[in-house]
Amino acid sequence: MQNPFKDIMRLFQGGGGSALGIDFGSSAVKVVQLRKTHGHAVLETYGELAVGPYGNAEIGQSVRLSVARMSEALTDVLRESKVSGRDCGVAIPISSSLVTTIEMPLVDDKQFAQMVPIEARKYIPVPISEVALDWWVIPKENGEVTYPLAGEATAGAPAGTPASEAGKDLKSGRLVDVLLAVIHNDAISNYQSLVKSAGLTSTFYEVEIFSTLRASLSQETKPVMILDMGAATTKLYIVDRGIVKSSHMVNRGSQDITMSISRALNISVKEAELLKRNVGLDMASGRKDIYDIASTTLSYILSEANRVVFNYEKRTGQSLSRIILTGGGVLLKEFYGFAQRFFETEAVMADPFAKVESPAFLDNILKRAGPEFAVAIGLALRKLQELP
Ligand SMILES: Nc1ncnc2c1ncn2[C@@H]1O[C@H](COP(=O)(O)OP(=O)(O)OP(=O)(O)O)[C@@H](O)[C@H]1O
Ligand SMILES: [Mg+2]
Repeated sequence: MQNPFKDIMRLFQGGGGSALGIDFGSSAVKVVQLRKTHGHAVLETYGELAVGPYGNAEIGQSVRLSVARMSEALTDVLRESKVSGRDCGVAIPISSSLVTTIEMPLVDDKQFAQMVPIEARKYIPVPISEVALDWWVIPKENGEVTYPLAGEATAGAPAGTPASEAGKDLKSGRLVDVLLAVIHNDAISNYQSLVKSAGLTSTFYEVEIFSTLRASLSQETKPVMILDMGAATTKLYIVDRGIVKSSHMVNRGSQDITMSISRALNISVKEAELLKRNVGLDMASGRKDIYDIASTTLSYILSEANRVVFNYEKRTGQSLSRIILTGGGVLLKEFYGFAQRFFETEAVMADPFAKVESPAFLDNILKRAGPEFAVAIGLALRKLQELP
């Protein structure tokens, strides 16, 4: 979605000291620029550009672009959104990374730091020298580790919560959970050249899970699920007290609805995308055929989500308090009602713009667009913390 207020938003901009988050989604690149005013995060501008047309595909479709084509798209979205900040943080797609929890015996910090990569090797299908590895010790229970810690994932940085700190109450030799975030070096260097080609400087690359978390969670005391419905895939994260407990990927996304409409009605992908967005699940439109097609894909995705919830609740004995909906796919008309009927757990739309200050007249627009911008906002929020 284009930012219809970009010229007005420009009035709120002020040059240096801005923090930029960039989410290279498979179907659209999204940018959010914030600044700190009197200790508050203030929205300066935001924008989005579909990348399909840069790779012989349509708006809404997921494509794999060369660095050169992606760089064009990035330059265009920065210009169209009137981004002035040069310092950014970038998200790495979950598909180019691995986030998992392993169990390890607690030993002293130094030994522990040496043991993590050795243990991690068992879970990583490529040589450890080819990846950037981050890790955090998660206390088993009643731990003090809260959301911002898990949000600090930085590929390549000397990472890790000191084992002694996270496991203060635990005796040496006891088992602790360790959260691993692994990114392939090739993925990072691709994004590095991309960012550089647009004249930007990136200080961190983080797996998109952590950006989404930062933007979508409030002070949750019970486990929640975050559902991120993108173009080609849907990502499911279970998060407890800010810590990622598990992540799953469903190989269906919003573009599957478009493709099914296109096939069923024998119309172009472009027309099908328009029908999807204009009609969606809105029965009042009189298009039951579109409803049926969309609900088939959605039922598949939401059943998978239900299965993940069920398995988690069964395994841990803890029930989830909410399912937070993010990603462009959840903007489908009447999606919210459909999801609510489908889940036994309460569903809520993510409202990441609520974490930043913005002119009141934009409230409704930002609430609607929010789910799509969760990753970019999460990145900009972290970048903002880095600024003096
Ligand atoms: N208003 C809308 N109604 C219905 N679908 C929409 C709407 N806006 C966007 N979409 C769909 O959402 C998808 C894009 O979502 P999103 O921007 O979250 O994906 P992405 O981040 O590019 O993909 P991924 O996370 O899989 O890499 C597209 O398939 C698009 O058709
Ligand atoms: Mg995405």
